[in-house]
Amino acid sequence: MDFKEYIRVIPDFPQPGISFKDITTLLNDGDKYRQAIDEMKKMVSDLQIDLIAGPEARGFVVGAPLAYALGVGFVPIRKSGKLPYETIEVGYDLEYGKDTLAMHSDAIKPGQNVLIADDLLATGGTISTSVNLVKQLGGNIVGTAFLIELCELNGRAKLPDINVFSLMKY
Ligand code: PRP
Repeated sequence: MDFKEYIRVIPDFPQPGISFKDITTLLNDGDKYRQAIDEMKKMVSDLQIDLIAGPEARGFVVGAPLAYALGVGFVPIRKSGKLPYETIEVGYDLEYGKDTLAMHSDAIKPGQNVLIADDLLATGGTISTSVNLVKQLGGNIVGTAFLIELCELNGRAKLPDINVFSLMKY
């Protein structure tokens, strides 16, 4: 199954020179969306996973259904100021811009095995920040899983010694 035909590529969005990989066209097709999540489930089937963590917002549309499919819990990683309880926060650089990610301070218990899931691995800034948050709480990162990896940006370099799984590579 080549899922790439369900990804819409938008040139020069949101800035000139950025080739945006639009996953909404995949999400729009119920069969293909489910098949993509099922394929991701297969990719991580050898891992012992207690929880999936996913960064806002597109990490939710990948991480939450994957957690449901695996029968494990889901931890939202959110932009600063959105979570209601006590949080830990880490600032980071995006492919275009800067932001801060936050997680509830009781979301992960020390020693729990955590898979981090997102739609896209670009520069790796978002996911390495997510790794940082999970590790601060004592979580054990068992891997990271993405719908799409932009290989030329070499986000994997920010994830040394971490399993990286991606369904589509560009
Ligand atoms: C996008 C995407 C990834 C991240 C990838 O999220 O969903 O989380 O960028 O880029 P990186 O590897 O260079 O960090 P964005 O911050 O645009 O937020 P969104 O999901 O709310 O659109």
